[in-house]
Amino acid sequence: MYIFKAGVVGAGAMGAEIAQVISFSGLPVVLKDVDQAMLERGMARIRKIYQGRVDKGKMSSGEAESKIALVEPTLTYDGFGDVDIVIEAVPEKMAIKKAVFAELEAVCPQSTIFASNTSALSISELGAATRRPHKVIGMHFFNPAHVMKLVEIIPGLDTSQETVDDVVQFTESLRKIPVVVQECPGFLVNRLLMPYLNEATLCLGEGAATASEIDAAMVDFGMPMGPFTLMDMLGLDVCSDVGSYLYSEYGERMTPAPLFFRLMQAGRLGEKAGAGFYGYGDQTDEPVRQMIAEISASLPPEQRGEFSVDRLIMPLINEAVLCLQEHIATAPDIDMAVVAGLGMTYHGERLGPLALADTLGLDTVLAKLDELRARYGERFRPARLLRTKVRAGHLGKKAGKGFHEYSA
Ligand SMILES: NC(=O)c1ccc[n+]([C@@H]2O[C@H](COP(=O)([O-])OP(=O)(O)OC[C@H]3O[C@@H](n4cnc5c(N)ncnc54)[C@H](O)[C@@H]3O)[C@@H](O)[C@H]2O)c1
Repeated sequence: MYIFKAGVVGAGAMGAEIAQVISFSGLPVVLKDVDQAMLERGMARIRKIYQGRVDKGKMSSGEAESKIALVEPTLTYDGFGDVDIVIEAVPEKMAIKKAVFAELEAVCPQSTIFASNTSALSISELGAATRRPHKVIGMHFFNPAHVMKLVEIIPGLDTSQETVDDVVQFTESLRKIPVVVQECPGFLVNRLLMPYLNEATLCLGEGAATASEIDAAMVDFGMPMGPFTLMDMLGLDVCSDVGSYLYSEYGERMTPAPLFFRLMQAGRLGEKAGAGFYGYGDQTDEPVRQMIAEISASLPPEQRGEFSVDRLIMPLINEAVLCLQEHIATAPDIDMAVVAGLGMTYHGERLGPLALADTLGLDTVLAKLDELRARYGERFRPARLLRTKVRAGHLGKKAGKGFHEYSA
């Protein structure tokens, strides 16, 4: 199916940028909100992105104006009678999203695809609440949507292959990188990211190293920014919502670090609050140092660990192997999603977690996980597939095959 016109519902942080991305590809897009001020703020955001391109000499102001004219801001559903796809980006509440899809059902043609930008909610459940579950799909953009290339495409249980193919093609037409991910809590990137961020926070709470030491070590390793800078940017409330949800779904290995709750209680929600792991403006990180001193003093000596890059990276690799084992995505897609979504590199090369395991040697990764498990517990239990591959001699690059195949 060719997409001639799109709709976006919700003109907040994500919706406005998604509408900008669609207009940039040359398609008309109706952008709907329930709040005039949010709609105006969304349009201002879109204009600012285009102005940035004009200022950099990437586009003339005439071109920018004609792209902006493709976005039709509205408080009604009047423009939704001929849209081929709608992407909802309303708040992360199942009831609101279901209500929006019910409203859309009344105004959109039967052929319209309903996509959700949800970060975590079940696509199957959203689909089941409509009369077109075969046309309902997850389309998870990353923030900021006008910059980040990756889009996770998540079919629900009843989504048709035709809908998946149409949405993959549409995503490519937006000059984004689509990765099809089977439905699971956190989808792919957030599921892999969370154990890494949580382990960093555990290390900090134990007093194993300071936030800036851990951040610097992870940047040295090849991450575009350290875990605490990233969490302060994402917002600790968002991280804590995702973390609690993943804990409720996956259990022990995702047990949130106690320091998260202390920061939340203190209203240190990250950059937007002027304070998170770090202090911004006139705020300092002294209160965090105080919390760390209290937490680490309350821990028995055997629970006060040491910081190492392995302690953060091995859980990320292990979660990637679990995703592969559960057929959430293919090995190339898992690696591509992590490179495109998190900007992970290793020795200057863009390398996802499975390719990294192949480079290090699967036997080495397994030995490190076993060691970390003996020291810190079950959250480091190696994925079954990792052990199977080691037993079979699929040790990675040095053996010609691991998670990927290598020619001699
Ligand atoms: N912010 C992120 O980093 C991020 C990243 C990926 C995905 N998401 C997901 O995108 C979605 C939107 O998040 P956001 O950060 O843009 O939220 P936001 O709060 O910035 O924007 C939500 C917008 O929806 C509008 N809205 C509320 N109810 C509505 C309704 N019934 N009809 C139309 N508009 C309505 C609000 O007025 C607001 O403008 C959520 O599902 C979120 O989980 C967010």
